[in-house]
Amino acid sequence: MARQQVVWVCVNCDAQAPRWQGRCNECGQFGTLSEETSIGAGALGSAGGSARAAHGGPVPEVTTLKDACGHEPRRQPTNLTELDRVLGGGFVEGSLVLLGGEPGVGKSTLLLQAADSLARSGAKIMYVCGEESPAQIGLRASRLGLDAETVSLLPQTDGVLIERAALEYRPDLIIIDSIQTITDPDIESTPGSVNQVRATCARLMRLAKEHGMTVVVVGHVTKDGSLAGPRVLEHMVDTVLYFEGDASYAFRIIRAVKNRFGASDEIGIFEMGEKGLTPVASPSQAFVEARDESVAGSALFAAMEGSRPLLVEIQALVTPSYQPLPRRLATGLDANRLLQVIAVLERHGGVSFAGLDVIVSVAGGIRLTEPALDLPLACALYSALKDRPLSAQSVAFGEVSLTGAVRVAPAAAARTKEAHALGMTNIIGADTLDSVRQISCSVT
Ligand code: TYD
Ligand code: MG
Repeated sequence: MARQQVVWVCVNCDAQAPRWQGRCNECGQFGTLSEETSIGAGALGSAGGSARAAHGGPVPEVTTLKDACGHEPRRQPTNLTELDRVLGGGFVEGSLVLLGGEPGVGKSTLLLQAADSLARSGAKIMYVCGEESPAQIGLRASRLGLDAETVSLLPQTDGVLIERAALEYRPDLIIIDSIQTITDPDIESTPGSVNQVRATCARLMRLAKEHGMTVVVVGHVTKDGSLAGPRVLEHMVDTVLYFEGDASYAFRIIRAVKNRFGASDEIGIFEMGEKGLTPVASPSQAFVEARDESVAGSALFAAMEGSRPLLVEIQALVTPSYQPLPRRLATGLDANRLLQVIAVLERHGGVSFAGLDVIVSVAGGIRLTEPALDLPLACALYSALKDRPLSAQSVAFGEVSLTGAVRVAPAAAARTKEAHALGMTNIIGADTLDSVRQISCSVT
């Protein structure tokens, strides 16, 4: 029996402390330490046990790099085009995939649709519903118009029993919805705690690596990322997908943040509707159509998401402030980025936002982090301040330096091509503007 000892584990960064403290020494977050019993490797289910037993056996063999080369992983395409794109062509057989996202974003819906589609092409699917009853999943399936016969449901939260069922039933793909509800009987802490998640994950990893089953694990994260599961899991799994989107918009974005079998910066875009999630083949079109280009404070940004250009609308609103300290609010982009662009515009663009509240937002509930966002943001701010719309058919992209210079953005040709494809002829970028001093040319 492994000796158990109490430790405090940070749910954000997984650092350990011998006693409770308000702030984690490693990542500096407050209130993230949770009490856990520390365990030896042997207690991590039979994964650790089998490793120990092997110590007395034959010496492990090595292989050459040459022999290891050229093995293309076998993939199971889900036929949901946007999901396959993010995965790099479908789920890789025998891989462990984590799908993270806030509650209600649509993780269960996406996986049920993927499961149904895979089952139709002959794969055996086991959907472990730890969170909802089979009746609830059934309701969702009938709402989605799915053929309920093709997917097996396992209402179970005991990790050992799930493993036994998998070994008996031998599915090609196991869906665990969600990891926070699964408990390992060897571990005393509550479901969802760092130790539980780690032990359950080790068990699932064995099903994937030793038995070649593909395992997809759902993990909830809250807005402040304070739930234990996914952060710990990220290091253990092959692929980490994040499903994001604002509940008040129909668009949902699936993003690969780690992918051992494909590009890690691809995104897929879905629209949540009455009949579940539908892939959005031309997201730029949807964003451009929803926009009114004759109003002030709206600029189109030719963004790059992975290998794909995407036109997104940046909106700005500038109003007189009734507070001693005017407000700067940003939705969908970093507030510090907004402060920086305002500062550059004030210093080098010949305008002032003093005494004015500034609110900016990215339309469609999308989150943008690219530096090339600076220029469209500056254009939207300038346009809102002057109350003049941007010139017709304009699209902007480019990083703005602290000296006011506009820098060329990567993949400028792909961005320009996407803009032209959607009928945008006026490209505002490093080719047309040297510095934010000339930003007045961008408005009518
Ligand atoms: P769900 O997949 O249960 O989210 P998660 O598993 O991430 O918690 O989806 C929840 C939301 O999706 C819920 O608010 C209802 C909405 N929804 C639709 O709009 N259309 C649909 O066809 C379905 C099934 C769900
Ligand atoms: Mg769910």
